Amino acid sequence: MSNTSAKCPYHPPTPKTIRDWWPTTLDLRILHQDPPPARPSHVPHPSQYAAYAAKFSGCDLYALRDDIRRALITSHPAWPADYGHYGPLMIRLAWHSAGTYRVFDGRGGGNSGNIRLAPLNSWPDNANLDKARRYVLWPIKQKYGQSISWADLIILAGNVALESMMYERWEEAEPLWFGGGRIDAFAPEEDVFWGNEGEWLKDDRHGEREREEETGLKKPLGATQMGLIYVNPEGPGGNPDILSSAKDIRETFSRMGMTDLETVALIAGGHTFGKTHGAANPSEHVGAEPEGAPIEEMGLGWKNKYKSGKGPDTITSGLEGAWTAKPAQWDNGYFDNLFKYEWTQSKSPGGATQWIPSDDSISASGGMDAVAIVPDAHVAGVKHLPIMFTTDLALRYDPIYGPISKRFHMNPDEFKNAFKRAWYKLCHRDMGPKSRHLGPWVPKEDFLWMDPIPLARYRIIDQNDIWELKNEVLNLVHSSMLSISDLVKVAWGAASTYRCTDHRGGANGGRIRLAPQRDWEVNDPPTLHKVLNKLENLQRSFNSNNNTQVSIADLIVLGGNVAIEEAARQSGFGDIEVSFVPGRTDASQSETDIDSFNALRPTSDGFRNYEGPGVESMLPEVALLDRAHFLTLTAPELVVLVGGLRVLNANTNSSNGVLTNRPGVLTNDFFMHLLDLNTSWVPMEGGKLYKGTSPTQSWIASRIDLIFASNSQLRAISEAYACSDAHEHFIKDFVNAWTKVCMLDRFDLSHPVHAD
Ligand code: HEM
Repeated sequence: MSNTSAKCPYHPPTPKTIRDWWPTTLDLRILHQDPPPARPSHVPHPSQYAAYAAKFSGCDLYALRDDIRRALITSHPAWPADYGHYGPLMIRLAWHSAGTYRVFDGRGGGNSGNIRLAPLNSWPDNANLDKARRYVLWPIKQKYGQSISWADLIILAGNVALESMMYERWEEAEPLWFGGGRIDAFAPEEDVFWGNEGEWLKDDRHGEREREEETGLKKPLGATQMGLIYVNPEGPGGNPDILSSAKDIRETFSRMGMTDLETVALIAGGHTFGKTHGAANPSEHVGAEPEGAPIEEMGLGWKNKYKSGKGPDTITSGLEGAWTAKPAQWDNGYFDNLFKYEWTQSKSPGGATQWIPSDDSISASGGMDAVAIVPDAHVAGVKHLPIMFTTDLALRYDPIYGPISKRFHMNPDEFKNAFKRAWYKLCHRDMGPKSRHLGPWVPKEDFLWMDPIPLARYRIIDQNDIWELKNEVLNLVHSSMLSISDLVKVAWGAASTYRCTDHRGGANGGRIRLAPQRDWEVNDPPTLHKVLNKLENLQRSFNSNNNTQVSIADLIVLGGNVAIEEAARQSGFGDIEVSFVPGRTDASQSETDIDSFNALRPTSDGFRNYEGPGVESMLPEVALLDRAHFLTLTAPELVVLVGGLRVLNANTNSSNGVLTNRPGVLTNDFFMHLLDLNTSWVPMEGGKLYKGTSPTQSWIASRIDLIFASNSQLRAISEAYACSDAHEHFIKDFVNAWTKVCMLDRFDLSHPVHAD
């Protein structure tokens, strides 16, 4: 044993991983992350929504709410509460959980309790939120067990914090809107790209700006620096430039899906409460974050050696002070102060740039005693000047935020209402449609940002109707009015927009017939319109002749199923039935937020061998994995789906990778030809495409196609489907994977909402 290893018993040398040797190798871990065995068997997995819903229904939410409120006003000696109230800390915890959400990929957000796990538990911006979970929430979590997930508890605690500070008497406090249904992650997420920087607070994420008002922040990132939830409070990169800071805020908050109005309401509403903590310089006194801290810190971090290390000596952000005179109470103090004073730059004891009322402003307002009205959080009788961050001043000086702030200042009720609504959106944006929201505090109102799907207020089709409709669709195929490929393409285009990250998209709602989806290049609009036209005719005729109704959303999926059954029959497997559960309904254009839906537009879709403009930042095969993750596919499901979709000729506008002489027939030809030893492949078009030549035929394929032979893990699966005994397995697996994708958005089945 060497000396080094003798001294370092806790850290055996880390073996090299495959990615250390070959950094560009495709990493399939994204598809198999946080598997069910990674959690205790009594804790539901994200794939077991109904199991969590059942546990949640056993939670006495009113008792829980009272317990949370009691904990908020019971100071723990290990982490004394500022102003005797943990409410502000809890709001920051909920906000930082939810605020990582970004619209481009639906990742981040508070729906998995990922703030408990690395890396988020250790991000500099989340400093001391470990104490909020440990000293305030853990005893409650322990009491209520699996009837409330950490993720739900954190957001609910944020709500209860607001309720308890918005009302004078707790007995009068109305519960704010809240929907449960968040299921905890038990392993760090493999799918989220938080940035490339290897150092906290570094910024290598700003590139070219496409337009003047943009900041150049690369997609899909939602924060301006590594380890921040959103923006630097001191200004971009620490530069106290108020107007540039406003640009950063607009960019990051719009990536959270927030409008300017919602952004102002949230920041002003949030900073109506609590204080910042910078008793001394963090770099001199604060220890490692939880993930890097010594073992005896028991999962906590940021140990502060400055004086008592807590209470008045707390160091969190390094900024120090509060915004209002009553930091544990909802009022208009934030805007009163923002507009009342002229602000001048100052330094916190921790050395950070913040703003205080200028000397002239203090004199004009009646002197120091009249302005220093912010109580100390721990020492009775001591008063401070209010502070603002550079980012707070953006709400006054930015030409768009300024008038909104003024309006809110003049109309406190409008401000309060806007805050409540924006808060609800912030905390629920990543939870999907209302049918996924649990509990008594779910609002009746439908919100456009939830992509509402109407309830079926008619009798939905039964088994006989399904047979009748299937025959009608089959007639369209037999009379060559529609092809197998047409029907598969449209059904796939509809269903495959789903993303598990925020539960948006999917075939339900029939939104592929609405803007913007109907015009997306990836959906091959001419084919789409042709298919929709025929299916809509069929729908009209069926609905006018029956007392039941069929939706276009159901017909699109049913059409795909019919095509697959026919394609299987043509390959010699006549008795395959693709399972179909009716009940999808059609949303209207006015129920569809076009801008917000555009975030779902695939810029690349390997399932359809589609490469749109502007996707250079991600290799096509990496983008394919990303999309497979949205669809919750395992590696075998990914492989079998691509193999099947290729032979069904479901590409967007190309026949690349259609490695079969019988397109439209469900065979394992894709794998047979891809792995054919007699075919040699050479790059063409600078490596975008490849030409495969054998003595008898030639093919054109993409990187996506070849990856199924070149990547050893994917090849292992492809080989299994190319073997002589594989054809029937291939068809069954394809049908199962297809059905899975078509059912991903059927929350109405696992947790139905009934029409009144
Ligand atoms: C505290 C930054 C938006 C709620 C803080 C702190 C910083 C900060 C640096 C001090 C942390 C500490 O030292 O303890 C920002 C920036 C924002 C922003 C840069 C956006 C531009 C929000 C939003 C909310 C919010 C949207 C909630 C809706 C709070 C609360 C505190 C706080 C309640 C006080 C926490 C406590 O008293 O312990 N914020 N924040 N902030 N923030 Fe924000």
